[in-house]
Amino acid sequence: MPHAFARKSPLILWGIVSLLLLTSCASAPKAPSPPPLVQEEAASETGSDQHHFNSLPLILMPGLEAVVRSDEHRHIFTKHLEVSSNPEITEAQRALVAAKISAFTTSVDTEARTVVSPRAELNIRSHLVAISENVMGIRIESFESTDTASGTNYQTQWFDLKHHAEGTTRDLFDTDASWVTFKKLVTRELNNDPQRHTRSPLLLEKAWLDSVTFDLRGNALVQLDDDAPSTEARGPLMVSVKAEEVTDLLSDFGASVRSTLTSPRTLSRLHSRLSTTAKVPQLNPAAPQAPEGTVAPKRRSINCSTQKCVALTFDDGPGPKTAKLLDHLKAGNAPSTFFVTGPNAKLRPQILQRIVSEGHQIGNHTWNHRSLPSLSLAQIRREIDRTDTVITEAVGSSAALLRPPYGARNSAVDRAAKAPVILWDVDTLDWKHRNTAKVVKAAVQQSTPGSIVLMHDIHSSTVDAIPAVISGLKAKGYTLVTVGELMGQTGLLPGETYSSGPHPVTKTAHKAGKDRR
Ligand code: NI
Repeated sequence: MPHAFARKSPLILWGIVSLLLLTSCASAPKAPSPPPLVQEEAASETGSDQHHFNSLPLILMPGLEAVVRSDEHRHIFTKHLEVSSNPEITEAQRALVAAKISAFTTSVDTEARTVVSPRAELNIRSHLVAISENVMGIRIESFESTDTASGTNYQTQWFDLKHHAEGTTRDLFDTDASWVTFKKLVTRELNNDPQRHTRSPLLLEKAWLDSVTFDLRGNALVQLDDDAPSTEARGPLMVSVKAEEVTDLLSDFGASVRSTLTSPRTLSRLHSRLSTTAKVPQLNPAAPQAPEGTVAPKRRSINCSTQKCVALTFDDGPGPKTAKLLDHLKAGNAPSTFFVTGPNAKLRPQILQRIVSEGHQIGNHTWNHRSLPSLSLAQIRREIDRTDTVITEAVGSSAALLRPPYGARNSAVDRAAKAPVILWDVDTLDWKHRNTAKVVKAAVQQSTPGSIVLMHDIHSSTVDAIPAVISGLKAKGYTLVTVGELMGQTGLLPGETYSSGPHPVTKTAHKAGKDRR
């Protein structure tokens, strides 16, 4: 299996703009004190809870945004970070993801030329782990599974914001001799690690060092990739080298990285500066609390056993385009269903509130978008529950529906689901072609009474298609409904799978869509 991202460029000269806002608000008017800094646990979300890294709110850096992409057929899900004011960071993140996807698809396509193995999966997630005026750190966790191997690898990308450069792990250390000394220290710790089952000495591989970071006390941390051969450890193996042993080995950049991670004061200073500027939303938006029952609009009286209904569904959001989508749905009077992922829901609670208050339904699309059948029952539950917690915080009640990522399910998933499992019978393939006309054509021409249509509100090509999708379906006599409304007459049972609703023409075929897939 391809190991780490190969692009280890030396310091790259950067463009001009960076952290514009950070340097420009010294004279800003006095603002109310900022809300508390929220740090979110990032690593080991589905794996072992042994080690935790703090994932920082993206709001700490102006223009920073998480971009989600998925390949539904190959089971690829990626989340990378883009910074509008720093194209070089965006480029470095895109290149990393592209290289991993390319390596993965090559190995998967070679293994199975015609049918992609159900075990094949690539899940890449980037987290902001360090930010100051001088330094930005992005931690990348990549889970990869093929027919022959599976595991997670860890990597950290460092950016020197002062000198407009990407720094490699090597750049954290001073001279070649310091680098060699550090590697020796890591090897020593590895060979002393009680987690390793064998006493045989371990040779350090270069690729294992690409995750170097520091804890709050300044100790250097190296997290070995799951597939690192001969570690023979159970769970992720983390090596820690004592702060005092590392101090003299660091370059100026390395020292700057370490002080960013060891001084929370840098963060709160940054945060209080940011919150004095007008356009930056609050970390914990003072959104109107939405106690149960107050947000939901009036129920419509719709009977999809007698009316021709279609349920439009949107996965993987909410994203930057979701507000526009909601405008289209409102204009077209088309209640729909949104299957949200936990991190995106956490990022945009106001959008969730808007979804509910405008008559749409919210479903759970898990936290990490992992293919659930390959997880343990406890991990599946955690994927679902964490997302439900965020949804409940935003809108006052948990998701009534579950859509497993990639539609991948088995009996364990069904058992773990406390909600009905909703699949689809019309796949617009919008993630693949990103073509507005094709989305319209698929949704309008392939829908039959009772159809559930799969789309993704993270793509503008999909959002732009919606006015024509709505008018096209209405011209064919369809009423657009939520999944709950679609199933209203036949009912929905937790743990049961549905890929379409009742078909009014064949009313005798009850439970029309159940387990049809
Ligand atoms: Ni999805």
